[in-house]
Amino acid sequence: MMEYMRDAKRRIRIGIVGAGSHSYRNIFPTLTYLPVELVAVADIDLDRASATARQYGATESYASAEEMYAKSDIEAVVLCVSPQMHPALTIAAFKAGLHVFMEKPAAMVADEVAGMIAARGDRVGVVGYKKAFMPAVRKAQEILAMDGVGPLRSVVGTYPMSIPENGRKVLDEREATNWLANGCHPLSVFLEFGGPAAAVTTHRGKNGGGALIIHHANGTIGNFHLAQGAPAFQPFERYVIYADKQSIEIENSRRLSYQRGIEFAYATGTSFAPPGLAGGAIVWEAQDGLNTLENKAVFTQGLYGELAHFCESVLASQPATIGTLEFALDLTRVYEAALLSEGDTVEIRQGA
Ligand SMILES: NC(=O)c1ccc[n+]([C@@H]2O[C@H](COP(=O)([O-])OP(=O)(O)OC[C@H]3O[C@@H](n4cnc5c(N)ncnc54)[C@H](O)[C@@H]3O)[C@@H](O)[C@H]2O)c1
Repeated sequence: MMEYMRDAKRRIRIGIVGAGSHSYRNIFPTLTYLPVELVAVADIDLDRASATARQYGATESYASAEEMYAKSDIEAVVLCVSPQMHPALTIAAFKAGLHVFMEKPAAMVADEVAGMIAARGDRVGVVGYKKAFMPAVRKAQEILAMDGVGPLRSVVGTYPMSIPENGRKVLDEREATNWLANGCHPLSVFLEFGGPAAAVTTHRGKNGGGALIIHHANGTIGNFHLAQGAPAFQPFERYVIYADKQSIEIENSRRLSYQRGIEFAYATGTSFAPPGLAGGAIVWEAQDGLNTLENKAVFTQGLYGELAHFCESVLASQPATIGTLEFALDLTRVYEAALLSEGDTVEIRQGA
């Protein structure tokens, strides 16, 4: 049950590390819908930290996260810095006894995610792979878990993206590419539905674009179309999830269609819309007619969901179940294997 910050009976005392672009545009404004008390802001740009702290009623600002961890009376931190910095800042926070929410991507390579898991202890750790939390994905998961639906067989997703060549160099030199920054968004949808991957194969088109084939360990196959060259800001993102004789489509994060199939007789059927309401599609779509919350981007894209799940886990003293560090490890392994594939199938190690 959602609680406005001002109404929450128990508020988690938080500090935010990183008051840059994403943080200022999306994280800070979302706090108003969460059971938190913003105590401190840390940013290596102290003026920025102080100005943002003042604006949001936080009484403390710091030029260093470590100083904030040591001096501030906080229970949890929200890290919104960069995948280069998240592992070190997270491990230091866990060592200081703090719960950690970090923005995506968790790290530059999978070993760094394993290091965060090793340092976590009984603290809550959540990574903001927002698409795993978006209402359309949560609804699709609810449908897939219903009696009579499934089993899941395959997922196809389209996202404007490419996977760089020279993947070995990208990994060795810790290059920050778009595959790192944004590839994790569609990958998080594939892994949310299909679970950990056992192998991946990258096929690169000669003129750009391509496909990433994801063999999930549970037998589901993922087909990630790398739609490099798609026009910007067109409705470019789409997923279709195929279960047995049923499918679910997610378009533009805001529209979910559940296709239940239609009774059909090949040689004798005379109507595409036979009587009854058992077949056909059920459609849910965010509407922009009212000043409500559910149509705002921080809700439709999962920003609220990821932070709310973090707060719920902290308040219940329970490990997170979505966007976990284990999920981040599985995802980062796919990120790495896709870079190394060059057309060959790369097996992926399972487990810790
Ligand atoms: N979920 C999304 O849709 C989404 C969108 C954009 C960015 N992001 C993520 O948010 C994070 C930040 O991205 P951004 O675009 O806001 O970057 P940014 O460069 O605008 O902001 C980063 C901020 O961190 C500060 N900083 C850098 N090193 C620091 C340190 N060691 N300690 C404290 N502060 C430090 C910088 O001064 C800056 O203010 C990245 O991980 C990025 O992937 C997520």
